[in-house]
Amino acid sequence: MIHEDGVRKGLAGVVADTTAVSKVDPDTNSLLYRGYPVTELAAQCSFEQVARLLWDSELPSPGTLAEFSARERAGRALDEQVRDVLDELPLAAHPMDVVRTAVSVLGALDPASGANSPEAELAKSERLFAALPAVVGYAQRRRRGRDVPPPREDLGYAANFLWTVTGADPDELAVRTFETSLILYAEHSFNASTFAARVVTSTLSDLHSAVTAAVGALKGPLHGGANEAVWKTFEEIGLGEGAGDRARAWLAEALGEHRKVMGFGHRVYRHGDSRVPTMQAALRELAAARGRADVLDLYDALKTAMAAAKDIAPNLDYPAGPAYHLLGLDTDLFTPVFVAARVVGWTAHVMEQRGANSLIRPLSEYVGPELRHVPDVA
Ligand code: COA
Repeated sequence: MIHEDGVRKGLAGVVADTTAVSKVDPDTNSLLYRGYPVTELAAQCSFEQVARLLWDSELPSPGTLAEFSARERAGRALDEQVRDVLDELPLAAHPMDVVRTAVSVLGALDPASGANSPEAELAKSERLFAALPAVVGYAQRRRRGRDVPPPREDLGYAANFLWTVTGADPDELAVRTFETSLILYAEHSFNASTFAARVVTSTLSDLHSAVTAAVGALKGPLHGGANEAVWKTFEEIGLGEGAGDRARAWLAEALGEHRKVMGFGHRVYRHGDSRVPTMQAALRELAAARGRADVLDLYDALKTAMAAAKDIAPNLDYPAGPAYHLLGLDTDLFTPVFVAARVVGWTAHVMEQRGANSLIRPLSEYVGPELRHVPDVA
C-alpha cells in the first residue's frame, strides 16, 4: 500500500535489488530456482541436488553430487561444544530459540569464522546444511531426556533428518513427503528472512550472523511460524466428526475478531501459492496411507470456508503443517525444519549479496515532533 506521503509500508511492491537465485511469478503462480520450475525439482531431484543448484547455479554432475554427499554425511554429528551450550537453555525454550542459538555458536566455532571469501562462504554453507538436522533433532529429543541418535551415513539427507528427530527408520513415503517439503521450502526470493540475511551481509558482516538474523525473522507467525500455527488451529478446532461445522464457526469468529488465519494469504501471490498443489498432493497421499481422513476433512473444510468468506488461498504452510504432524514432528519443531530447508536459500543470497554488495539502508519519513529545545529545568 502506498501512503499519501509516498511511503511504501512494509516495502510492498518495492524492487530492492536483482537476483538470479529464484523467480516468483505471481501472474502465472510459478516459482523457478535458477530457471527450473520447483514442481519439476520436487518431482525429480533430491534435496542435496537442489542445494547444489541454488549455490552453484547449475544442477550438480554425478561426481560433484557424490563428493558433496560424502562431505555432508561426514558433517552430520552434533558438535559437543554446541550441545553443551544448548544444554544451558531451559527445556521449555522454543526450538527456534535453540536453533538460533546453535547457528550463532556454530559461527563462532567455524574453522573459517573470520573469512568471507566465496570459497569460505560456500564451505560454511555446506557445514551449516550438514549440521542443522542434528540441532533440530536435539531440540525435540532433549525435552524427552534423549540425545540424538548417531547419524546414519547410509541414508540420504531427508531420511537421516527424520531418523535424527524420531529415532525410527522412516518409510519411503515419509522420506518422499519430507523431501518434497524441504525442496519447496528451500528458497523464495526476497521474503522477510532472506531480506534480513541480505541486510546483515550488506554491512560486510559474516554468513552466520546473517543466518542468525534470518532465523529470528522466520520465527514470526506472519512468516515461517505459520506452519506450526496451522496445526495449532487444527487442534483448536478439533479433528473428527463435525469438524466441518466447527471449522466454519471457528472461522466466522476469527474473521469477526479481525484475526489473521495462519496458512492463508501471501504478500506476493494473489491467486494462490505456486508450491501448494505439490505439497497438498503429498499431504493427501501421506494422510491416506496413514488412515488419517480426519486431517484431510478438516484441511478441506477450512480451505473451502476461507475461500467462500475471504477468497484467500492457502500458502505452503497450510499443507506443510499437517504433513509434519503426520510425520511425527512436535508442533514447535515445524519452523526449525523450515530453517534447515531455507538455510540453502539464505546462504545462496548471502553469497549473491556479497558478490555485488551495496549497503542496504533505506530512508524514513520523519513524523515525530518538529524541532524543539530542552527546557531549562534548573
Ligand atoms: N487471514 C485473514 N485475513 C487475511 C489473511 C489471513 N491469513 N491474509 C490476508 N488477509 C486480509 C487482510 O485482513 C486484509 O483484509 P482487509 O483489506 O479487509 O483489511 C487483506 O487480506 C490484505 O492483507 P494484508 O495483511 O494487508 O496483506 P499482506 O500482503 O501484508 O499479508 C501475509 C501477507 C502473509 C502477512 C498475510 O496474508 C497473513 O498474515 N497471512 C497469515 C500468516 C501466514 O500464513 N504467513 C505465511 C506466509 S507464506
